[in-house]
Amino acid sequence: MSPSAKKYISQHEFTEKLKNIREPEFIRKSWEIIEKIHSIREKKDFLIMAHNYMPPEIFYSVADVTGDSFELAKKAMNTPESSILFAGVHFMAETAKILNPEKRVFVPDMTASCSLADGISIPEVLRLKNEHPGVPVLSYVNSPASVKALSDVIVTSANAVKIVEKMPGDEVILIPDKYLAANVQKKTGKKVYVSRASCVVHELFTEVDTEMAERQNLLVLSHLECRPGVAQKTAFSGSTSQFRKVIEENPDREILLMTEYSMVENLSIDLPHRKFRKHPLFCPHMQKVTLEKILYALENEPVENEIFMEEPLRKKAEAALLKMMELSA
Ligand code: 13P
Ligand code: SF4
Repeated sequence: MSPSAKKYISQHEFTEKLKNIREPEFIRKSWEIIEKIHSIREKKDFLIMAHNYMPPEIFYSVADVTGDSFELAKKAMNTPESSILFAGVHFMAETAKILNPEKRVFVPDMTASCSLADGISIPEVLRLKNEHPGVPVLSYVNSPASVKALSDVIVTSANAVKIVEKMPGDEVILIPDKYLAANVQKKTGKKVYVSRASCVVHELFTEVDTEMAERQNLLVLSHLECRPGVAQKTAFSGSTSQFRKVIEENPDREILLMTEYSMVENLSIDLPHRKFRKHPLFCPHMQKVTLEKILYALENEPVENEIFMEEPLRKKAEAALLKMMELSA
């Protein structure tokens, strides 16, 4: 699609979406930046992708495509634009680059990382391989390219259970999230060898929260990265994009979403007739991405915001991602 064929949100639509959750002054200032972003994009051939955890002022204004990690990985393939700006964290932009080596891929803040991707290293993967020879290595998409390159298959929270079930044998290595791995072990009955990382956001939901929710008859949905003791007590445990379907199937109850709070804000805008319980858990890495930084990256295409990768490593990581696409079909 040529840049000028894209349809952007109007100021009125944007204001209507945000008016119940943001101050008028914040909405007005955000709109000033959004207009600049739209005008630059008229001249440049950029696709802007945004993860479900982007705040509403980004999610509803400048993104061409939105979704969970799996949806965004799929949408990143074969897009016509010559460049991608990824409004999300580093490993997500890296995944887009692995799947689109000929495109330039930018991330608004290079330091926007992830406790899971930071919590796994090459020596740790080699140790697990050594301890469990012949056992397939599955890496969660929240891992660095160097770890993806050492893996047989990548999984996301949307397809981890399905892919582990499809693996030959009854043992897998699943890294780096120890809670996600424990949840998958529980759901599949397979032996899952794990490493030690956890998500700094999802690990903060506790059984005290699920007990409170039960007393108050809340519909509780949790991300697969939540602690097993929590996930088992919730009505659903999975990926961010799967929440919406479960919410729509349960029309009357107030909802507690055990996931990053920007996603709750986005869903509450999309489903204004539903009541969502407030909580204070934002991802500190996702929060580094701002409209100002998106504008700066689009205007300047700075080399320090661009993703680069050695081709042999990229090819290995790509093979593991393509295996995921094949097994999740
Ligand atoms: P999803 O794959 O569900 O989008 O999750 C990504 C993530 O970082 C969750 O914390
Ligand atoms: Fe990583 Fe957790 Fe942030 Fe998701 S919410 S990007 S898993 S730190």
